[in-house]
Amino acid sequence: MKKLAIGNDHSAVEMKKELKAYLEEKGYEVINVGTDSTESFPYPVSGYKVAKMVASGQADGGILICGTGVGISLAANKVKGIRCCVCSEPYSAKLSKQHNNSNIIAFGARVIGIEMAKMIVDEWLNAEFMGGRHQTRVDMIMEIEEKQSLEGAE
Ligand code: RB5
Repeated sequence: MKKLAIGNDHSAVEMKKELKAYLEEKGYEVINVGTDSTESFPYPVSGYKVAKMVASGQADGGILICGTGVGISLAANKVKGIRCCVCSEPYSAKLSKQHNNSNIIAFGARVIGIEMAKMIVDEWLNAEFMGGRHQTRVDMIMEIEEKQSLEGAE
């Protein structure tokens, strides 16, 4: 995973900037689609942009930050193919990749500090999906998505 999309709302400008620089120093390409202003900015805009980039393959993974990580992850999870998990600690972040094959990680700039955010991102980026029985369960999640779009077509 080398190319990442990052997005945020007004509450997470500083954290986004710091994380972007941190990841670029590690050799990742980081595409910023979030706001760089502290003026009120609706989190669904960034959630959707990052999710579309990941779902379309323009980015290998995504990072989303708002005040809590909740709203922005809800928005991202509306995009087909997205599994975005809100994590406030590294254990869940690691398992979200190993077991759930998360393709976007989210957290709250008003919930955790920058050092915890770095640790969460590191664990997530270094983890690998384990497949096997976890694949079956992830497939079941994605089947729900498929069923929903078929119902919409009826
Ligand atoms: C913005 O005030 C806040 O609602 C947003 O950053 C986020 O926490 C929403 O889930």
